[in-house]
Parts: sequence; C-alpha cells; structure tokens
Amino acid sequence: MKVELSFSSAQFDELQLREKNIIVIDVLRASTTIAVALKNGAREIIPVASVESAVKISGSLFGEVTLRGGERNGKIIEGFNLGNSPLEYSETAVKGKSIIYCTTNGSVAMAKSRYARTLAIGSFVNLSTVTSFMQEENKDFNLICAGRINSIGNFSLEDAVCAGMIIQNLLKNESLSVELSDSAKAAHAISKTFGRSILKMLKTSEHGKYLIELGFADDLKICAQLDSVPVLPVLAGTVIKLK
Ligand code: MLT
Repeated sequence: MKVELSFSSAQFDELQLREKNIIVIDVLRASTTIAVALKNGAREIIPVASVESAVKISGSLFGEVTLRGGERNGKIIEGFNLGNSPLEYSETAVKGKSIIYCTTNGSVAMAKSRYARTLAIGSFVNLSTVTSFMQEENKDFNLICAGRINSIGNFSLEDAVCAGMIIQNLLKNESLSVELSDSAKAAHAISKTFGRSILKMLKTSEHGKYLIELGFADDLKICAQLDSVPVLPVLAGTVIKLK
C-alpha cells in the first residue's frame, strides 16, 4: 500500500482526485462533526464547496427533512440551521435529516473528492475505524488534510498529527507492506511529538486557539477523544453516509 499525503486540498481539483482512494481529515471540526452527526442518526451529509451551492441545492427541499449546516470564520452562516460545533448535531437535531454542509476547508476538500474511487472521513474520534478500513481495502491511499485556506502553507497541525497517527497504526500491522511518500513520513514524525497529548496540541494549535476565543473550548474536548465515535463516514454517490 502506497500512502501519499497532502497538507492541504488547495492544490487539487476534482479531476486529480478522480478514482483515488481518499481520506479527508479535518479534525477541527468538519470531520469530527460529520462523524457525530451520522452517529446521531443524520440520514446523510451533502458536502458543498460554497454557501451559494448550499442554498441552490437545498432550494425547495429546505425545511423539515433538509437542514443547512456549516460555518464561515467558525460561526454559523446566516440562514443556516446549524453551525459547525459537533455539540449542535445532537440526535434531537439531526435524526433522519439530510444535511447540506458547507465549511471553509473540510467540505471543500470533500466536494473536490466527489469523483474519488473511495472517500472516507477521518478524525481522532474515528481514527482506529479509519485505519481498519484502509487495512481491509489494502489499496493505495491519499490522506488529504483539509488544512486552512487562509493560512500560509495551508498547514494545520491537528490534521497532520491525525494523519500521522493513522500512518503509525498502519505501520504497526506487520502483514501490510506500507510505502510512505515524503509528506506522509513528515506527518508521521510530527505525530510522534505532538500526538502525545491530543487535547493540549488542539488547545495550542492556531485554529484551536481561534475556536477557544469564539467560545468553542468544549468542541476541542470532543474532537480530542480518540476513537470515541467509531463510525466510518464514506461517500456514496454524492452524499456522505455511514458505511
Ligand atoms: C473548516 O472546514 O474549515 C472547519 O471545519 C472550520 C471549523 O468549523 O472549525
């Protein structure tokens, strides 16, 4: 299995990701929120790359069974039902609902992966589930860190650490032959230093600090809980559902 890794989805377009096996990682908070929403009974998540697409797609469906969720600058988007805090995606709020989902980085990376052969969504809360899936598939994979569109280099420490820990799990499996790209080796090395205390790393990361300023400190605690939401969100057609 060859594992490649990108620290951001910025350099990709849909065609480059066509027919690839992809794991999109956006620990803070899109990947975590999607896992929580689907575990709490959401019917499906429809990732879109822009607010305009969200409004267009929801059209007349918007209402009882279709919700709009997501963020801009970490905050709920005007006219949307839900922001991007995993705490908002409770069973009462999302059970049976289709959620049109638009975030700054995570949903963009997911929308770009719409022609992938397989797309799964990874974060700390489902890290072992994602690793098992990759092991079972035993194919080449691209780990795509959602990164940060507005930050220099588009690098997010928390996504790199999560990707590095997935790689660490794969390397532990001696029956797998894993070949790492240079960036995958770098993420693996980074995770050895910063993966020791996930919550501390999240609290001191740039995006983590921003979310704390906005009053979302509790979100970081949820996002840090390793394997607490052991589900596998995957792309099925144009929507993300539980495998
Ligand atoms: C994103 O996609 O950029 C995020 O998930 C941002 C956030 O809500 O923290």
